[in-house]
Amino acid sequence: MMHIDIITVHPGLLEGPFSHSIVKRAREKNLVEIDIINLRDYAQNKHKTVDDYAFGGGAGMVMMIEPIDRCITDLRSKRTYDEVIYLTPDGIMLDQPLSNKLSLHKNLIMLCGHYKGIDERIREHLITCEISIGNYVLSGGELPAAVLCDSIVRLLPGVLNDETSALSDSFQDNLLAPPVYTRPANYKGWEVPQVLLSGNERQINEWRYEHSVERTQKRRPDLLKRNTNN
Ligand code: ADE
Repeated sequence: MMHIDIITVHPGLLEGPFSHSIVKRAREKNLVEIDIINLRDYAQNKHKTVDDYAFGGGAGMVMMIEPIDRCITDLRSKRTYDEVIYLTPDGIMLDQPLSNKLSLHKNLIMLCGHYKGIDERIREHLITCEISIGNYVLSGGELPAAVLCDSIVRLLPGVLNDETSALSDSFQDNLLAPPVYTRPANYKGWEVPQVLLSGNERQINEWRYEHSVERTQKRRPDLLKRNTNN
């Protein structure tokens, strides 16, 4: 079973995303174990301090090295981790190939940063992988960790009902997914493409492939130039 530990100062932010839908089912089926670790449990003084002023001055608090080191050391005494991931806007950009790669691992730590950042020595000595979910700044690493977890967990064997359905997602073959429709076939004169009602599987697959390519050319021509083996 895959095991993911998420270290955070706002555990409440992470409860919702993992208690619904596909991730919830994956946890119930014991396909993944997700532990939310409160960093304050590893703070040393009675105020449970985990951040301090930046050396050299400047606005914003910095997350301290000690509680994070104690926390990661404690986790490492229980199991071996494949990656210790720090969610940060200056990390490498998350994409489908990266999620695919991470989904093959056994144990992961995700560290959610807050305030103005974390003491650089944590990044130098404890973190093995730094990931951004996009070119915008969020208030902390919790939502990015939830995004990363979701993208990994849905790929684990047995999580999706239809084993092939992650394969037909957008991006898995550098193509966007084709349009989909459901009943009614005619709503106020807005009609579903006839071929999808035909029952001809070969023609339907062709239609889907053509529309995937067309949609990708129109919306994301950059994807068509990419190498699929990365
Ligand atoms: N923390 C704050 N913003 C972030 C982002 N865009 N990606 C990952 N972690 C973040």
